[in-house]
Amino acid sequence: MHVNGKVALVTGGAQGIGRAFVQALLGKGAKEPREEPLLSPPPPASPLRPAPAGAGRRQQPPGSPRWGTRQSVRLPTRRSFPAQVALLDRNSEAGQESKAALDEQFEAQRTVFIQCDVTDQEQLKGAFKKVIEHFGRLDIVVNNAGVNNEKDWESTIQINLTSVIRGTYLGLEYMRKGNGGDGGVIINISSLAGLMPVAFQPVYCATKHGVIGFTRSIALAANMENYGVRLNTICPGFVNTPILQSIDKEENMGQYYSYKDEIKNMMRFYGVMDPSRIAEGLITIIEDDTLNGEVMKITASQGIHFQQYSQTPFTSKR
Ligand SMILES: NC(=O)c1ccc[n+]([C@@H]2O[C@H](COP(=O)([O-])OP(=O)(O)OC[C@H]3O[C@@H](n4cnc5c(N)ncnc54)[C@H](O)[C@@H]3O)[C@@H](O)[C@H]2O)c1
Repeated sequence: MHVNGKVALVTGGAQGIGRAFVQALLGKGAKEPREEPLLSPPPPASPLRPAPAGAGRRQQPPGSPRWGTRQSVRLPTRRSFPAQVALLDRNSEAGQESKAALDEQFEAQRTVFIQCDVTDQEQLKGAFKKVIEHFGRLDIVVNNAGVNNEKDWESTIQINLTSVIRGTYLGLEYMRKGNGGDGGVIINISSLAGLMPVAFQPVYCATKHGVIGFTRSIALAANMENYGVRLNTICPGFVNTPILQSIDKEENMGQYYSYKDEIKNMMRFYGVMDPSRIAEGLITIIEDDTLNGEVMKITASQGIHFQQYSQTPFTSKR
């Protein structure tokens, strides 16, 4: 899928990795050459994808060439528009600051910030609806918002796993073919902690394992039922974002607070990456139409690579 002309929704987009995702999506393709224009009728409106204002009025003039014939006039095509991105985050201050900074670099109308706590079902549903109303479509969903909180571990499950599942179902509702959607890509953010045990972050680790199991499973269903939506997971190693500060806080680490130096030693050992490296992985997944149900690992030592699985998936092979 080309990023150009697409609309993306990124949860936790106000800072850290989410912010880097937004930056990469906006930067990607912005300078690509315009596609040869092709006259085509406007897409039919659907209850999920309202027609843009005035779309219904565009009609083929009498005596003009048939739709689809190449013309010398330059009509905009979807791919000739750069991507547009909605940043969802519960942190309104950081969200507005990010939006203002992005507006300095890119046209202001290319982004929208929507304050939203992903654990609030109605807020999340409302935010998806707003994105469709604002940009007229949805092609890419990145369920990225996450926390490291072993003390309030129930909320960690709500944010890191339940909301990723809900965001995936909402994305499918809007993008799934056969349901009024045009297809799309969903990327759920896990962690290397989703692939191995982590002594002092057991609940974080459990949620990230859950994200991988859920995303791989729903990707199988999407493939078998031709949803037209690809679903993949990204598992970063340590990344230099504000979440790393949580390791130094008792209110986050709870009973594991005394082990904070162990985690810091691990960071020194494995290295800490820049968020832009994770954004490279995101763009790779969006652009490579062969990727579905994959688990992309990104580490300081090996860069972008994929988890290999030997087990046969648990399906009836219909
Ligand atoms: N930084 C790392 O080392 C690292 C490594 C592996 C995976 N990850 C994962 O990457 C994702 C992004 O993390 P980050 O490092 O950018 O962290 P971060 O703390 O810098 O950013 C997380 C963002 O999510 C938002 N958020 C948190 N709870 C929310 C909620 N309930 N509703 C809406 N927004 C909420 C925060 O306000 C923040 O803007 C997380 O899922 C995290 O688990 C991070």
